[in-house]
Parts: sequence; C-alpha cells; structure tokens
Amino acid sequence: MPPVTSTAASSATPADPTLAPDRAGVDRPDWAVAGDAWGHAATDWAYRFEPYNRDAVEDVFTRLEVGPGRRLLDVACGAGLAIARAERLGAETAGIDASAALVDIARRRAPAADLVVGSMFELPWPDASFDAVTSFNGIWGGCDAAVAEAARVLRPGGSLAVTFWGPGAELDLRDFFIFLGTSVPSVADELMSLADIGAPGVAEAMFDSAGFDVVERGVSSAVIELADADEAYRTLRSPGVVRPCLDHLGEDEFRRRVLEVLEPFRASDGSYRLVNAVTNVIGRRR
Ligand SMILES: C[S@@+](CC[C@H](N)C(=O)[O-])C[C@H]1O[C@@H](n2cnc3c(N)ncnc32)[C@H](O)[C@@H]1O
Repeated sequence: MPPVTSTAASSATPADPTLAPDRAGVDRPDWAVAGDAWGHAATDWAYRFEPYNRDAVEDVFTRLEVGPGRRLLDVACGAGLAIARAERLGAETAGIDASAALVDIARRRAPAADLVVGSMFELPWPDASFDAVTSFNGIWGGCDAAVAEAARVLRPGGSLAVTFWGPGAELDLRDFFIFLGTSVPSVADELMSLADIGAPGVAEAMFDSAGFDVVERGVSSAVIELADADEAYRTLRSPGVVRPCLDHLGEDEFRRRVLEVLEPFRASDGSYRLVNAVTNVIGRRR
C-alpha cells in the first residue's frame, strides 16, 4: 500500500531512503510511491479538485508580494495551479512535486517554470536561491525536514508560507477525511499525524526550529462546488490520500460511501457545495 501522502514516513533523505516496494516489486523511495498515488487520477485532480485553493493562493501571494523580480519556489506544487498564477504575476518560478503525472500538467500550465519531479525533503536547488517558498496543502505534520529544506533554499529574510486544511469549525470535508481514516485503520495514525499541523502552535514550532520567525497566521476559504453526483465522485476520488481506502473498499462501495458522506451538502438541484477553511502560516527566515 502506498504511503498516504508526503508524510513523516517519507521524510527520509535519498541518502538514507525508506524504501517501499511498488507493484512490480522494485524498491522505490516513499516519496515516489506517494507521487504515484497522487497521480492516480491526475486530470481529475488538476481540473476538478485543485482549483479549491485559488483563494488561498491569491491571499498568500498578496502577502508575499509575488510579482516581477521575485524568485518563488512552490513545494509539492501538484498540477501547478499556484505556479501558473505566480508566472502570470511576473515572478520567476520553480516547483517540485512527487507525482510525474501532476508535474506534466504543471509544465503545460506554467511553461517557463523550472519544474522538477522529486522530494520536498531534498530540494535540488542551491542555498539561498529564492525570495519566497510556498507549499499549498503540501507540507504537513511530521514534515519538519521539508521546512528545513525550505529554509536552506531561501535567502536570509525570505518568506515561507504553508497552508493546510482547517482547523476549526468550517470544514465541510471533515467527515470525508474521517471516513478515509476510519475505513482503513492502518492509515488512521498517519492521517492524524498529518493533520497535527493544524493544532495550535504545531506549525509555529516547525517554523521556529527551522530558523523562521512567524509573522502571521491567516485563513482563506476553499469552496468546492460540484454539479452533480458523478462530478462529486470523480472530484473526491482524485486525491492520492484516497488510494488506501479505494483499494480496500473497491470502487462500488467506495463510491457509495463517498456519496453518503456528501449527502448533507447536496442541494435540491443535485449539486453540492462544501465550504472549508484553509489556514496559512507565514514566516520570515532569520
Ligand atoms: C494535497 S496535494 C497539494 C497540491 C497543490 N499544492 C495544491 O494546492 O492542491 C499534495 C501534493 O504533495 C505531493 N507530495 C507528496 N509527497 C511528496 C514529497 N515527499 N515530495 C514532494 N511532493 C510530495 C503530492 O504528489 C501532491 O501533489
């Protein structure tokens, strides 16, 4: 079974990789296995799910003054939604993601960007290469080594912004995440550890120990609007985090359970609307 996402378990460096066998029995680093999971429905993720973070990207880029003359790296860049926006704002852009399928889409969206398939725990750029590093829902609890790498590639005084779901009341996806965790007990602990970044002070402690002064914590809204049940299912089936649950339950039962979880958010015309808070934490490198 692939690791759920990036996760603490994948924080091993390539010099000391934690290896996991892929389906052909070939040992590959955890980050690459996670990347395969995140690429399992790459176009659905890119065009259906990933736009959820548009407002968070806009809010963070405004705070970081992304524009001409700024060098920006997006870590766990997925299919490049944020990088494409940074490119349109005139920044010099780079990105890294574990999923080759998502990076292929990012290359089409942001042709001028320096895009790499690889691990957030070993960035292939020299020290002090960037003015700003962002990670939109890509760096989670236990990913301290990724924050340290972000510090290394930032110039002194450069900014790091990380976003994550929640915490707090406004998270319509909560029952979906609980469903994923409780359906496959072996991944429940991993999901809890990832979500830990939302607990008060956790992100701030990760920033501090990597050499950042936290300058602010803000919240954006991520609204997911879905036209009908088929659209809703394809969208919520697309993140890599669903893979263990989908494999465990099988397609039919997984679909039935997903639509059951979404039922409270279905309107009389059959569409769905989920409103979610996305928190951002911004730090400045000392
Ligand atoms: C929730 S998605 C976030 C994607 C995008 N930033 C967004 O705003 O939607 C998590 C991303 O982390 C990537 N990822 C997982 N583990 C990784 C690792 N160790 N190094 C780099 N990327 C990783 C996945 O491939 C996936 O694209």
